[in-house]
Amino acid sequence: MSAPKPSKRPIRSYVIRSGRLTDSQRRALDEHWQDYVIDYEPSALDWNALYPQQQPLTVEIGFGMGDSLLAMASAQSDCNFLGIEVHRPGVGKLMHGAHQAELTNLKLMCHDAVEVLEHCFEKESIDRVLVFFPDPWHKKRHHKRRIIQPAFVSLISSKLKTGACLHLATDWQPYAEHMLEVLEQEPTLINHCGPGKFWDEPERPATKFEQRGKRLGHGVWDLLFRKE
Ligand SMILES: C[S@@+](CC[C@H](N)C(=O)[O-])C[C@H]1O[C@@H](n2cnc3c(N)ncnc32)[C@H](O)[C@@H]1O
Repeated sequence: MSAPKPSKRPIRSYVIRSGRLTDSQRRALDEHWQDYVIDYEPSALDWNALYPQQQPLTVEIGFGMGDSLLAMASAQSDCNFLGIEVHRPGVGKLMHGAHQAELTNLKLMCHDAVEVLEHCFEKESIDRVLVFFPDPWHKKRHHKRRIIQPAFVSLISSKLKTGACLHLATDWQPYAEHMLEVLEQEPTLINHCGPGKFWDEPERPATKFEQRGKRLGHGVWDLLFRKE
């Protein structure tokens, strides 16, 4: 009997949930996809050409239902935003909100953020990366699914401009400690809050996942690192 072939399937940080689309999410996906979504192709894009204004680019990974990204893009019209999310109801909801607010500084990609970061950006082309409340994957056997891993952090850092920042948040203390350890080991990043420190007064809107965690009595840990 021959040995089983090793699996070639990459370990993903998500499982696609089959969440039902509301009517407004479905309509937004049907009517505004071309206006907001950049279809994934494994090649570097000219990001400046995709927005009407040439301005600093913020990338949010895993925006969920998109409420906080909508708030940031509305409040910061002097920045361009790219949201990356695999959950289609969230993409539909954010597109609906963006259309209603007539936003032109927001684009979305509905694809695995690891592949998007790897293939769609030139080196040193992003001004800010946000990863708010990534899935904590509580069980030890699932820790390999956590998106914050040394290789991914190193990939993110390679795409950040010098002086640009990486902002993470989580409501799961063991994940917060893991994030701190991984980020502090990345030689191209420096902890903006001082070695071993979390960011006590983060500047960002509350997210949906965070609010749910707070209702359950969870704490919140933010981390802010800069590319050297
Ligand atoms: C726990 S939720 C948090 C959502 C949102 N940031 C919030 O705080 O409300 C994590 C989100 O990340 C998305 N996600 C996980 N891995 C991803 C990946 N590799 N690429 C794109 N989205 C991802 C999931 O689909 C999910 O919606």
